[in-house]
Formats: sequence, C-alpha cells, structure tokens
Amino acid sequence: MSKPRVLSGIQPTSDSFHIGNHLGALKNWVAMQDTHDCVYFIADMHAITVEQDPKLLRDRTLNSYAQLLALGIDSKKSILLVQSQVPQHAQLMWIMSCLTGIGEANRMTQFKDKAAKGGTSSASVGLLTYPILQAADILLYQANAVPVGEDQRQHLELTRDLAIRFNGRFGDVFTVPQAFIVKETAKIMDLQDPTSKMSKSAPSGCVNLLDPLKTTEKKFKSAVTDSETKIRFDQTKKPGVSNLLTINSAYSGQSVEQLVKAFEGRMYGDLKKETAEVVLSFIEPYQNRVAELLTDKSELETLMHNGADRAIEIAQETINAVYAKIGFAL
Ligand code: TYM
Repeated sequence: MSKPRVLSGIQPTSDSFHIGNHLGALKNWVAMQDTHDCVYFIADMHAITVEQDPKLLRDRTLNSYAQLLALGIDSKKSILLVQSQVPQHAQLMWIMSCLTGIGEANRMTQFKDKAAKGGTSSASVGLLTYPILQAADILLYQANAVPVGEDQRQHLELTRDLAIRFNGRFGDVFTVPQAFIVKETAKIMDLQDPTSKMSKSAPSGCVNLLDPLKTTEKKFKSAVTDSETKIRFDQTKKPGVSNLLTINSAYSGQSVEQLVKAFEGRMYGDLKKETAEVVLSFIEPYQNRVAELLTDKSELETLMHNGADRAIEIAQETINAVYAKIGFAL
C-alpha cells in the first residue's frame, strides 16, 4: 500500500528560518519523511502578497532551499520544490477562488492582522486570496496531512471546506486533508514578549537559526520571565519560563517534567543559559551545513528543477481531474 501523503510549505520572507518555524513545523517535516510520502515547498508566490524586493526574494528562495536541505529534508526521498516553478498551483487557485465566498476570505484572521498592519486600503487582493492559494497548494497533491504551527489552523479549515465543497458539487476529486499540529510546540513564543507568538516581524524576541551564535546567546540571556523565582510550567501565569522549558525540551530531548525536576531550587539565569546551550548545539552544525550547501548554487538550482519536474507530474493529474469535472473543454 502507498504511504499517506504529506504536504507543507514555508515562505522565503526572511534571511533565516527561526526556532518557531523549526519547532512548530520543520522538525515534523523531517520526521515525517520516514513514514509518509512527502512534498515540501518554498512558498515564493505567497511571499509577493506584500511588497518585496526581487533580488532579495530570489536570494532568499535559494537560501531557504539550502536551509531545508540542511535541516534534513532529503531531496531524493521527498519532493522539494519552489512554488512558482510549478504553474499548477496558480491554475488550481483560480478554480478554488471561484468556490470561495468574499465573506469567507474576509474572515481569515491572518489577513485581517496583516491588512490592519499596512492599512486595509493598501492591502493587495493577493493578501486576501492568500489562503485560497494555500488551499490549492495542499489539494493539488491530494495531501492527507499538513504539518504546520497553530497559526495555520484556520487556513487548514478553509482548505477542508473547499475540498468538501468541490467534491460535493462536482464529484470526488480531492482528498480532505488534516492539519498535523504538535500541541507542545505549536506556538513558540517571543522571548521578549512571551504572550505573543515568535515572529520575524518582532526581531528582538525572535531566535533565527542563522543568527550569529553570540546574538542568540544574548537573546536567551535577556529573555523576559516573571517576578517569581520558581521554575515550573504554567503557560498562563508563567509564559516566559514555560516557553523556555518548551524550547529546552524540544532541543535537549528531555521532557518538561524532567527539566522542572532538574532545575528545582535553581535560578532563572541557569534555565536561560542552559536553554541557550542546547539551542546553540543544534544551530552550530546546522549553520556550517547551510554555508557548505550555498557554495554550490548551480547544484541547488538543479535540485529545485528536479523537484519541480517531479511535482508537476502529480499536480497535472489533479488539474486534469478537476478540469474534466468542472466542464472545461476536453
Ligand atoms: P510561514 O512561512 O509563516 O511559517 C512556516 C511554518 O512555521 C510555523 N510557525 C510557527 N510554529 C510555532 N511557533 C511559531 N512562533 C511559529 N511561527 C511560524 C507556521 O505555522 C508554518 O507551519 N501560510 C504558510 C505557508 C504555506 C503553507 C502552504 C503551509 C503556504 N502554502 C500549504 C502549509 C501548506 C506560512 O505563512 O508559513
């Protein structure tokens, strides 16, 4: 029997992925390669929904590709592609946008947040239809599971609704996917404001995997905690300490309970220092691997094209099935 299909994507909107991306999603991408048939991609078409610089976008796409390989995405085992190199994403998106209500798109909280930041009147139509492109990404490959962080849950619900709507109206074509969200690490918080999600848009509390090691050490040292002294896990009352425990646990492999026990009677400073250490021991070899991969850009481009070729074969089959159902000329 064939393995269940996994699909997920990440935007190339920064010079480095951060530990929220890694723990919330990318770590699971790597792990799922053993049990699933995986398709992963760089969402460069999503990246142009806000203003961007063309040279930077191209550089960051290549750099993101290298980062995914360095994290352990195996381009032989999995399909690793760049979204814009597979035109079927945009083809399916058009059809899905004809099935989406304007009100439905307007209700997406990420759109509301992003549009509010830049002033709603200057938001692009692309920003509004962003989740529909995301739905097309997923449905194109008939994905069963989509490993993502908590912030993507609503987009996954829309994807499921659209799949069910299409299948109901035109006949079964799409697999209805499920979000794969690991509760413990689904929302890594900002080190400076542990009540907000870690995000590249707030650099002071965001730990980038490619930041200089000293910067990361400093960020952990100055992480915001609380006015108590006891190290225990309580996300409501002690969001800063709990976030450090979550991060430490994910990189050290020790459970939160084991850590709480090990830190009994010790200071917050010890927790910050030791969490920085386990993170840095992951980051250091990773940075070397990324640097090594980036020395051969043409090899990376070849891998991208191979990934796109393999993806197109699967994607075109879905487009054919959709076109046949929807009544387009044969
Ligand atoms: P993006 O590029 O914003 O983020 C990539 C992944 O990282 C997760 N993430 C986090 N997880 C835990 N804690 C955090 N602080 C944190 N910050 C980010 C995100 O949930 C995501 O899984 N719309 C997507 C890209 C996309 C996509 C898709 C994903 C486009 N098409 C199809 C899945 C399937 C996005 O903006 O991710």
